[in-house]
Amino acid sequence: MPPQILLGQLMIRVAFVSLFLSKPAHASFSSPATKFPIAKRGCNDTCGDVKIPYPFGIGQGCYLDEGLGSFGITCNSSYNPPKAFLKDTKIDITEISPQGQLNVLQFIARECYDHTLGDEPRADYSLPKFAINRTSNKLIGIGCDTSTYAEGIRFQGHKNMKHKIRCISTCDTPNAVINGSCSGSGCCQASIPKGMKILNLTVRSVENHIFVRNFSPCSYAFFIQKSEFNFYFDNLTNLERTEKLPLVLNWAIGDENQTCETAKQNLSSYACQNNTICINGEGNYTGYRCSCKEGYQGNPYLTNNGCQDINECQMKENNSCKFKDFCHNFEGGYNCSCPEGYTINGDGKGSEGCIPRHKKHHQLLAGIITAGIMAGNVALLAFCSWCYNVYKKRKMTTLREKFFRDNGGLILQKKIKGQEESSSYTTKIFSIEGLKKATNNFHDSKIIGQGGFGIVYKGCLPDKREVAIKKSKLINHNQIEQFINEVVILSQVNHKNVVKLLGCCLETEVPLLVYEFINNGTLFKHLDDKHMASEICWDIRLKIAAETAEALSYLHSAASPPIIHRDIKTTNILLDKNYTARVSDFGASRLGPLDDTQFSTMVQGTRGYLDPEFFQTFQLTEKSDVYSFGVVLVELLTGKKPVCFERSEGEISLSHHFLSSMKENRLLEILEDRIVCEGNIEQLKQVASLAEQCLNVKGEDRLPMQHIAMELMGLRIASKHNWVQSANVEELSPLIDQQNQMPV
Ligand SMILES: *[C@@H]1O[C@H](CO)[C@@H](O)[C@H](O)[C@H]1NC(C)=O
Ligand SMILES: *[C@@H]1O[C@H](CO)[C@@H](O)[C@H](O)[C@H]1NC(C)=O
Ligand SMILES: *[C@@H]1O[C@H](CO)[C@@H](O)[C@H](O)[C@H]1NC(C)=O
Ligand SMILES: *[C@@H]1O[C@H](CO)[C@@H](O)[C@H](O)[C@H]1NC(C)=O
Ligand SMILES: *[C@@H]1O[C@H](CO)[C@@H](O)[C@H](O)[C@H]1NC(C)=O
Ligand SMILES: *[C@@H]1O[C@H](CO)[C@@H](O)[C@H](O)[C@H]1NC(C)=O
Ligand SMILES: *[C@@H]1O[C@H](CO)[C@@H](O)[C@H](O)[C@H]1NC(C)=O
Ligand SMILES: *[C@@H]1O[C@H](CO)[C@@H](O)[C@H](O)[C@H]1NC(C)=O
Ligand SMILES: *[C@@H]1O[C@H](CO)[C@@H](O)[C@H](O)[C@H]1NC(C)=O
Ligand SMILES: *[C@@H]1O[C@H](CO)[C@@H](O)[C@H](O)[C@H]1NC(C)=O
Ligand SMILES: *[C@@H]1O[C@H](CO)[C@@H](O)[C@H](O)[C@H]1NC(C)=O
Ligand SMILES: *[C@@H]1O[C@H](CO)[C@@H](O)[C@H](O)[C@H]1NC(C)=O
Repeated sequence: MPPQILLGQLMIRVAFVSLFLSKPAHASFSSPATKFPIAKRGCNDTCGDVKIPYPFGIGQGCYLDEGLGSFGITCNSSYNPPKAFLKDTKIDITEISPQGQLNVLQFIARECYDHTLGDEPRADYSLPKFAINRTSNKLIGIGCDTSTYAEGIRFQGHKNMKHKIRCISTCDTPNAVINGSCSGSGCCQASIPKGMKILNLTVRSVENHIFVRNFSPCSYAFFIQKSEFNFYFDNLTNLERTEKLPLVLNWAIGDENQTCETAKQNLSSYACQNNTICINGEGNYTGYRCSCKEGYQGNPYLTNNGCQDINECQMKENNSCKFKDFCHNFEGGYNCSCPEGYTINGDGKGSEGCIPRHKKHHQLLAGIITAGIMAGNVALLAFCSWCYNVYKKRKMTTLREKFFRDNGGLILQKKIKGQEESSSYTTKIFSIEGLKKATNNFHDSKIIGQGGFGIVYKGCLPDKREVAIKKSKLINHNQIEQFINEVVILSQVNHKNVVKLLGCCLETEVPLLVYEFINNGTLFKHLDDKHMASEICWDIRLKIAAETAEALSYLHSAASPPIIHRDIKTTNILLDKNYTARVSDFGASRLGPLDDTQFSTMVQGTRGYLDPEFFQTFQLTEKSDVYSFGVVLVELLTGKKPVCFERSEGEISLSHHFLSSMKENRLLEILEDRIVCEGNIEQLKQVASLAEQCLNVKGEDRLPMQHIAMELMGLRIASKHNWVQSANVEELSPLIDQQNQMPV
């Protein structure tokens, strides 16, 4: 039989996976967040760039009418893009948040020395339905002869009371005005009391700017979103060109005197629909809001298709069943079960959710396979002698077959044949001819990576699929072991954040591994390159961290014994064009920790990432992966390399430098500037604290990977929990810096 035919037969399914893992994964491994309607049926849910969730709406019948047209919106399409206005006002809406905020643009009040400039000393904020958000805004007056006051109504003790706030700004010379200081000289500010609404804002001059008209010819007053404003000397004159400024309003259902409790008494007017909870406004008696119950998502104000059950089982990332395929969705939640051979432990969630039913049997099995892989040489010899016999019988003596044999092809074949039945995907055995064609005969121009391990080529298969082909450098028993190791491990894992092994080629002296091609390079490259680093903003970094953690958590928990990667670093995290992280390079990986007697003779890790405990125990465990991952987290936070001798002493090792900075509460000093902004500082701190816990010198004190993955995912969900994309936060950071508002 010619070898090609034999090899063709070898396109076998690697079913090894079924031994340890659950049922095969479905084709649709992850599903994008389910779409749900936000507006009433038949109503338009966008106006230009603004998403319009009910109770807001455009046109009669599309919004909740509580009198005064309160939630009505006018969409004016004579602008491009069209602009949304609060009905019957000239206030533009830029964003409606389901958490009860409304971002708008509002006019400023102005009065000038030269009244022909177009005075408008009053600005009308009399919106009966919307209070000015007290925590996000402030009242600002600008000018050197300026008196600003706002008069409005506060609902207090079940009564409406008039309330006034004012601020005065004066200065005699331009020198008295200081950039960044808004404390009465050129600029004054006042904070807003609780529950103030229906405001009139007025700006006046005391002496009609007579003495200051050269440098401050006008007075201005406005309410503005704090984070959007920092005072500069130039503002004394340049506000002339500004018409409107951003402001945050609050919205809620019901009158000022209504609470969830009073609203529920009249169900025909109660706005919260099925599967919701009701939330009172700040304090009580500012109206109420609705929110979907846990386990549901959607628009809580819609009657028919409002809060809908989340199918957690479809979203593998966020069901915490140990075996993702043994998940049962039901209204408002899900539960887990365990595959055959396992028994449920507690609720089936988390890494301890399913435990082997027959521990002994299981351990024996695990032992056999671990030994098979770890003592690869022995296994190789044994199998090779076996395969030698088989081959002798068949009288096949070509060189290719020898290589195939030496490269452990028959071990693989045997393993594969043993478990034909259930398998999720197939590992293909490629012919050398095919791979030569794919890489232009391994031409140098196809090299995409090179290192101690060998060379990686980019190839293109006849079906136009792009692949990465890894060719190990040296050929010795150790490497064959690693090679088989990687094949066996990778054929066991099927996770969206782990690089897929498509197959291997065993006909060459040096074994070749064929992977899917991940087209956007390594995380290392993205952090190292200044231009690229600016592209990966904090949200993307958090995504990469969470996905890498997810993959490691899967490796540590989905298989038993766990798979330990042993060489986590930024060069082993690949990114695709959507910045989805893919963990690669399993050459050093092992199933399970080594026995005491089998300590590794070869240092596997990479400088800067290596678990400090390794130097005592000579063992790499799951907690070593956690340590290395901690270093990756710190790199994402700081943009610095793990080891750099050009840095000053004490900063050479990034992890060391990071830990000491954390201890001295100087985190902000080492964070990469471009990822820091007011909105995410809490999140950065939380991630830094996770990293700190990963870098614990004692392995047992480090968090388990499952926990880290869950925390990171939680942070991602929290920051995404918005119907509308948040404003471009990057632009705000300089303002915040100068105001020194960053908590340390
Ligand atoms: C589940 O994960 C997806 C994507 O990772 C996210 O969009 C969604 O909000 C999550 N849902 C829950 C209920 O955690
Ligand atoms: C919704 O309104 C926008 C802007 O006015 C318009 O471009 C779009 O076609 C409308 N969509 C529907 C479904 O009416
Ligand atoms: C839309 O805006 C234009 C320009 O400001 C204005 O002339 C027009 O009256 C507006 N249309 C509506 C329907 O409000
Ligand atoms: C003001 O807005 C912030 C978010 O921007 C929100 O957390 C806060 O609750 C709002 N204040 C009131 C009084 O609703
Ligand atoms: C605001 O100004 C309008 C018009 O001048 C006036 O009718 C109203 O009473 C004022 N409101 C307050 C709270 O002063
Ligand atoms: C204030 O800021 C402006 C830029 O807006 C700059 O030109 C000016 O030099 C600054 N003045 C001081 C005293 O820092
Ligand atoms: C104040 O002046 C600065 C510097 O010219 C400018 O960048 C900023 O936009 C001005 N602020 C406002 C609210 O217009
Ligand atoms: C709520 O206030 C309105 C007037 O603002 C009043 O007519 C109504 O009776 C009050 N309702 C309750 C339940 O207090
Ligand atoms: C309940 O609400 C409906 C609709 O808003 C209203 O017509 C009705 O008078 C209210 N009933 C009571 C008892 O307040
Ligand atoms: C709001 O009402 C709830 C329940 O009626 C009460 O427990 C809470 O103390 C009230 N809060 C304020 C700030 O009045
Ligand atoms: C709420 O759910 C109940 C039972 O599931 C159903 O009978 C009722 O029609 C639902 N109400 C709305 C407003 O959808
Ligand atoms: C999981 O939920 C399903 C459907 O509600 C139920 O039949 C099953 O008994 C539950 N299993 C466990 C372990 O709670």
